[in-house]
Amino acid sequence: MRDKFYNTDCIAGAKKYLKDNSVDLIITDPPYGIEGDKLHKHYNRNEKYVIDGYVEIPKKDYEDFSLKWILEAERVLKPGGSMYIISGYTNLVDILNALKKTSLKEVNHIVWKYNFGVYTKTKYISSHYHILYYIKGKAKHTFNTFSRFSDSEKFEDGRSKNYHDREDVWNIKREYKPGQIKNKNELPQELLKKMILYSSKEKDLICDFFLGSFSTAKVAKGLNRYSVGFEVSKKSFVYQEKVFNNLKHGFLKKSLRKPPKNLLTNSGKKITNGEKEKILNIYYKLKSQGETKKKAIEKVSTKFGRGYWSIIKLIEKNPKKKVNLKFNF
Ligand SMILES: C[S@@+](CC[C@H](N)C(=O)[O-])C[C@H]1O[C@@H](n2cnc3c(N)ncnc32)[C@H](O)[C@@H]1O
Repeated sequence: MRDKFYNTDCIAGAKKYLKDNSVDLIITDPPYGIEGDKLHKHYNRNEKYVIDGYVEIPKKDYEDFSLKWILEAERVLKPGGSMYIISGYTNLVDILNALKKTSLKEVNHIVWKYNFGVYTKTKYISSHYHILYYIKGKAKHTFNTFSRFSDSEKFEDGRSKNYHDREDVWNIKREYKPGQIKNKNELPQELLKKMILYSSKEKDLICDFFLGSFSTAKVAKGLNRYSVGFEVSKKSFVYQEKVFNNLKHGFLKKSLRKPPKNLLTNSGKKITNGEKEKILNIYYKLKSQGETKKKAIEKVSTKFGRGYWSIIKLIEKNPKKKVNLKFNF
């Protein structure tokens, strides 16, 4: 299936149009059950440019609604497929309870730090969303570990950019679009790019049960993936489908930075006893020559193409090794 969208309820729509095990990745942002159709009361923004087509789910129906669409999501996801659900905290419990009733497995519970633009005086200011990252079945899931940063890229203070990018707290700003037509709760491109690059391949099929502004589908198209999805609001659907159709497949690819090659080419491969011996001898020799622990590990890690943490593990298992001076760095 390639780029097919339906102006209908996602539960009935999925049952009718999507086969079992047919989708590689789901990224979706359900209505929050907090009168989201009246969100302008809380946000400091000019509503003139916001498409008036957000359909909300009443609080009393939220639990049942969440279970129904999540069961459909489980059914249509391929074994080895991944799902990201973006949720506020108010009705998060309903989503988590629904997920517990499926076979889907939790991989990460991500916190997305987000600037809502609200102000409170007598309590803390809300500034995060939850992103629930789940996978289906035992098949190996797509996770492109080095799609955004290679293992050798460092900040000035020496911290790994790859490690930082894969921590489960994400600080991604919303996009300000003054004077442009937008949907309520439009997800930022940066956030969508991140999930799509880590969890899918080109030509994969990505599904969004709640299209809104088609933000997931647009970024998927930009990164040369296909999309399918649902949106009940006619106003939003008609406007955004046209915008989507005017985009070219792969339009975002040029703007992606290409990470340099990985240096730790042996990372993940089994360490032989001979290699262990060499690593430990060189490490303890460097230390005996006055090198700091950190620097010695970095040198050994680069020389053997092995990750920093695997060297640490090895040292911890083999403390105070006698230096065999025949090993040279
Ligand atoms: C939080 S918004 C999604 C925003 C979207 N991720 C974006 O970036 O624009 C939720 C959307 O779900 C739509 N919606 C509500 N109930 C639905 C249903 N039963 N089936 C499909 N869409 C629905 C709403 O109209 C709204 O556009």
